[in-house]
Amino acid sequence: MMDFMWILIMSVITAVAVPMCSGGLTDPPTSQLLIDPVRMCRKNRRNMKDSSNFIVHGNTVGMAHRHRRKVRSFCTKEPEIIREATRGAQIGTAECQFQFRNRRWNCSSQPKSIRRILDRDTRETAFVHAITSAGVTYAVTQACSSGQIQDCPCDRTLNGKSADGTWEWGGCGDNVHIGYERSKDILDIKYRRRSDIRSLLLLHNNEAGRMAVKTNMRLVCKCHGLSGSCTTKTCWQKVPPFREIGEMLKVKFDGAAKVIPGNDGKSIIPWMPTIKPPEKEDLVYFDESQDFCRMDRKSGSLGTPGRQCNATSIGVDGCDLLCCGRGYTRRVVKVKEYCRCKFQWCCDVHCDTCIKRKVIYTCR
Ligand SMILES: *[C@@H]1O[C@H](CO)[C@@H](O)[C@H](O)[C@H]1NC(C)=O
Ligand SMILES: *[C@@H]1O[C@H](CO)[C@@H](O)[C@H](O)[C@H]1NC(C)=O
Repeated sequence: MMDFMWILIMSVITAVAVPMCSGGLTDPPTSQLLIDPVRMCRKNRRNMKDSSNFIVHGNTVGMAHRHRRKVRSFCTKEPEIIREATRGAQIGTAECQFQFRNRRWNCSSQPKSIRRILDRDTRETAFVHAITSAGVTYAVTQACSSGQIQDCPCDRTLNGKSADGTWEWGGCGDNVHIGYERSKDILDIKYRRRSDIRSLLLLHNNEAGRMAVKTNMRLVCKCHGLSGSCTTKTCWQKVPPFREIGEMLKVKFDGAAKVIPGNDGKSIIPWMPTIKPPEKEDLVYFDESQDFCRMDRKSGSLGTPGRQCNATSIGVDGCDLLCCGRGYTRRVVKVKEYCRCKFQWCCDVHCDTCIKRKVIYTCR
């Protein structure tokens, strides 16, 4: 029943979204922002040498040898890691676009925008790195549990009874340690020995992304005993739904800490001595963001003209803020929706199509 409800909701959303698509308001269904498996695993050595396998900072940074070796070994010996990392980056991208769908910067993956975003050290840059790194951790961990990656055992490090003695560790726990390590291997290794501010920020924000997964593991339990009685209960840990990770990182985005290079040349410190240093879980940035109000090639801002806004909201999605005071237009469109749906046992659903009028506000 739940599944079918979900499909239903999805189709309603799709139906509503169609007229907007034709207006060119949504990006093509791309793709990962930071991981490109084709470039990453290219056979050709010449290409391996001169190109970065990641679209990082919009330009091609030569890869360190160690990094190249490590990635190559994934490419040849464990292609499923690369596959899952790519899937993780896609999950991260999709979540970034969901979290920022009503903001001036909407996490567009258009190359002309995202390259510029990754070329700076702003909050937005921090979020993209963190959510990608969280996505890779999440995808690899999940794939591990479902047996899609070799040599990736269940997490059995937790065993014995719970602190209060009411249940026991058991089952196949999601192995977040492996997801964590692989995310590090793929996204961090190239920067590990660097101490420029950009690398330090990247490493910190990647770690924050992984921590968002690691520190939010859920407890899942199962009862054993006659006819559903819970004489014994075993529990294991499972990764949280990715939406929750996205929400959490969004909160971190809003509270991101501004930092500057420390005197030792190896660390970052708060830009004001009175502010407490960022924790591992916090996002950090160095450059102030621009306002993303108008199109600006240099900073990767696409501007908000043409964006849909909410005329009654006083928040960031409201027309006042989203349109940056330029004003907005009102338009009535007809959208098709499924309606009068009836569930027929079992398991079919019949709906009519209704034409609804919908008022749409668009930024000037
Ligand atoms: C983001 O906004 C730009 C315009 O500012 C628009 O072209 C694009 O389709 C939007 N992308 C998403 C994913 O909503
Ligand atoms: C617009 O914002 C108001 C107030 O925040 C909210 O109640 C309403 O659901 C929003 N409408 C849409 C279409 O998101």
